[in-house]
Amino acid sequence: MASFTRIADEESPSIIVHPDHKIAKINDNIYGGFTEHMGRCIYGGIYDPGNPLSDENGFRKDVIEAMKDLNVPVVRYPGGNFVATYHWLDGVGPKENRPKRPELAWLGLEPNTFGTDEFMKWCEVVGTEPYFCLNFGTGTLDEALGWLEYCNSTQDTYYANLRRKNGREEPYNVKYWALGNECWGPWQVAQLTKEDYAKKAYQWAKALKLLDPSIILILCGETGYSSWDYYVLKECVTWSVHGLGGDRTKSLIDMHSIHVYTADKEHLANATAPRGAERAIQMASALIDLARIENGVPATVPKQTICFDEWNVWDPVRAPGELGAEEKYTLSDALAVAVFLNGFIRQAKDLGMANIAQSINVISPLMTTKDGIIKQTIWWPLLLFSKYMRGQSVAVNVRSPEYTGRTNPAWIRATIETPYLDVSASISDDGYISLAVANVNEERDFEVAVEGVKKGEIKVYIVDGENIDVVNTSDEQKVGIKESTWSGEGKFKFSKHSFTLLRWKA
Ligand code: AHR
Repeated sequence: MASFTRIADEESPSIIVHPDHKIAKINDNIYGGFTEHMGRCIYGGIYDPGNPLSDENGFRKDVIEAMKDLNVPVVRYPGGNFVATYHWLDGVGPKENRPKRPELAWLGLEPNTFGTDEFMKWCEVVGTEPYFCLNFGTGTLDEALGWLEYCNSTQDTYYANLRRKNGREEPYNVKYWALGNECWGPWQVAQLTKEDYAKKAYQWAKALKLLDPSIILILCGETGYSSWDYYVLKECVTWSVHGLGGDRTKSLIDMHSIHVYTADKEHLANATAPRGAERAIQMASALIDLARIENGVPATVPKQTICFDEWNVWDPVRAPGELGAEEKYTLSDALAVAVFLNGFIRQAKDLGMANIAQSINVISPLMTTKDGIIKQTIWWPLLLFSKYMRGQSVAVNVRSPEYTGRTNPAWIRATIETPYLDVSASISDDGYISLAVANVNEERDFEVAVEGVKKGEIKVYIVDGENIDVVNTSDEQKVGIKESTWSGEGKFKFSKHSFTLLRWKA
């Protein structure tokens, strides 16, 4: 729990950290990634055969290193909207036999030279876990079952043997499977009504779990606060179904997916927009509770968690998907990303996974050029969170002036506060406390009394830049991390438009 008290502009802000008041385990999977067959994410991003920077598999080594630095635990694949016409069989076996297909989500051409086995190899090299999304557009249940069998089966059956024939004896044991992507969206090839989706998701889930009961199934939600979310949860959050028997510890659906992209032309509306994403988590969590109550799901069945499997700053008009969605991120966007991540830490109890959309080139912290990599502004807060904000979320009380102007969306103003100092705190398993503070005010530094810090050497990591519009390019990295230390005496100055992480041993 983080409590916020709004104070007058002339009052002195304060932050109190309570390391002994642990709120919830932070699931490592909140630092997940997402790679879609879209723009330059796969081709020219993670896979770039012939480039001197690539290894013998055609994988860009600099991208692999960056993913390792970020310690990305799980990566969603192969879409996104792309998956609605994707047939996984096109992407396995000898490359010369793989068909080229028209690609209808982003109006491209899919060569299929990168598919399941290449992605699994890449995950192995990066040291991350795969999360597959099933084709709920033009795909069939048979195909989905075939894919699951190909990945996970140890039996002497057709698709398991096809995997062996393609060079992989052992099963991949893919744990996470999504029941479609944004099936509610009018942009989908084969958009569904909520009634049709729920019926289909229920039946597919049952069949998939009959084949492999160990998998984690992710239901396709919307924003977390829509009638779609309510309806599909109500229809699918159940436990006593054929195949699962009456087991009072198992559920048909394990997670509920939501997506939120934010953006605004004005800095404060931009930087505070992710407060809506935090509110979305709270609302989705309440809808899960409601579905469980209405369906009589016993408390012994673990509560479904939220899989925030697409989040980031993105304005699709500024960076259209059909053109590869190559957003150039500003310092303002980096602060928005810090506010997103603070929200994830504060809502750790309900969050089972989150995947920044996307990992490379497409609306991404990381951009490749032919001869190198650019770390965009948003890379830096993400790196600090992934490095240090792990373990458990801890309670923190914040007193700060509040931004009171226009929000995007407008309903943020009516449902959640938008403090200038946006704060979360964590304690790692080895006893380090980390305090993450985004000062979104672009004009004012705040001198803050920080209680609960241990006097002595406190590590200080600051992400900031000259102004909120600065971007990083291949020539110049204007936003990065500045490291220093603080004694813990007196007040700490959180500079205007900055993100700061303070870290000390408990
Ligand atoms: O991440 C880009 C796109 O945004 C994804 O393909 C889709 O799921 C969402 O609309």
